[in-house]
Amino acid sequence: MSETILVLGASGQIGSELVIKLRSIYGVNNVIASDIRFSEELAKDEAPFEIIDATNKNDIKNVVLKYGVTQVYQLVAMLSANGEKYPEKAWELNMTSLFNVLELAKEKLINRVFWPSSIAVFGPSTPKVQTPQETLMNPTTVYGISKLSGEFWCNYYFEKYGVDVRSLRYPGIISWKTKPGGGTTDYAVDIFFKAIEEEHYNCFLSENTRLPMMYMDDAVQATIDLMQADASNITIRTSYNLSAIDFTPEELTLEIKKIIPDFTIEYNPDFRQEIANSWPQTIDDSKAREDWNWSYQFDLELMVKDMINNLQSSKKAESSKL
Ligand code: SER
Repeated sequence: MSETILVLGASGQIGSELVIKLRSIYGVNNVIASDIRFSEELAKDEAPFEIIDATNKNDIKNVVLKYGVTQVYQLVAMLSANGEKYPEKAWELNMTSLFNVLELAKEKLINRVFWPSSIAVFGPSTPKVQTPQETLMNPTTVYGISKLSGEFWCNYYFEKYGVDVRSLRYPGIISWKTKPGGGTTDYAVDIFFKAIEEEHYNCFLSENTRLPMMYMDDAVQATIDLMQADASNITIRTSYNLSAIDFTPEELTLEIKKIIPDFTIEYNPDFRQEIANSWPQTIDDSKAREDWNWSYQFDLELMVKDMINNLQSSKKAESSKL
């Protein structure tokens, strides 16, 4: 069946790459990118792009009706570190943007929804190693509270109204095209930019902070696999644990030094350390593997090579433009 897809939050870290992949599958004109910020890249060659404030249900509804949208990927959110700075704004943004889309699905204007959850749903009392799908949660960040509440709302809309909403608990996502903003796992992206630019990084987490992570290519693949899976295979309507690699800043540094030997790092943990300490180190994603055959491609070594190659090539391309 042909789909018309709307991606909310398309200018962000995940959206900017997900839109490109979705357009290669469904056709450029069948994937409408939207964000409160315009993206020249996603609108080029007259590709559909709409400015949408995802907290405004009518803004979304108008675009859904204009294009006959069948599926929405709702990626708008304020991440963990910024959420601690602006708690009310984070709650309002994260919950309202989700409700708006769930309501449109309840009204049967769209028939499938993707909404990302996060490892931030777990808290200090959660088992840290191979964290199970079902376990003690007790999140301690505003972001984590909004994601865990959102998960239950997704499940509620599925159970009560039959809304086909699907979700993944993303680990930290590493990418070179668009940087994340305001998260705790952002160090694992920033470190590469600094390694290329200055061969030095001032890390805001301590050297032994192990966190679950994933390369963007795998995150995009997981998202599309989940959305394309037969509804009868989806047994979890809160959100699936999803896992790929895990490492500490020290281990990541050693891997980067294999390619950039002069790279150095210093550690100056700030308020984000406490957030990282409250999260798991590794995740058990066996339900995703069982239900829709999830597996990842990029291990630590491959991810580091690909990041550095891409960043070096884009730096060369930039400097040849000057
Ligand atoms: N990457 C997110 C953050 O650090 C976690 O989902 O906030």
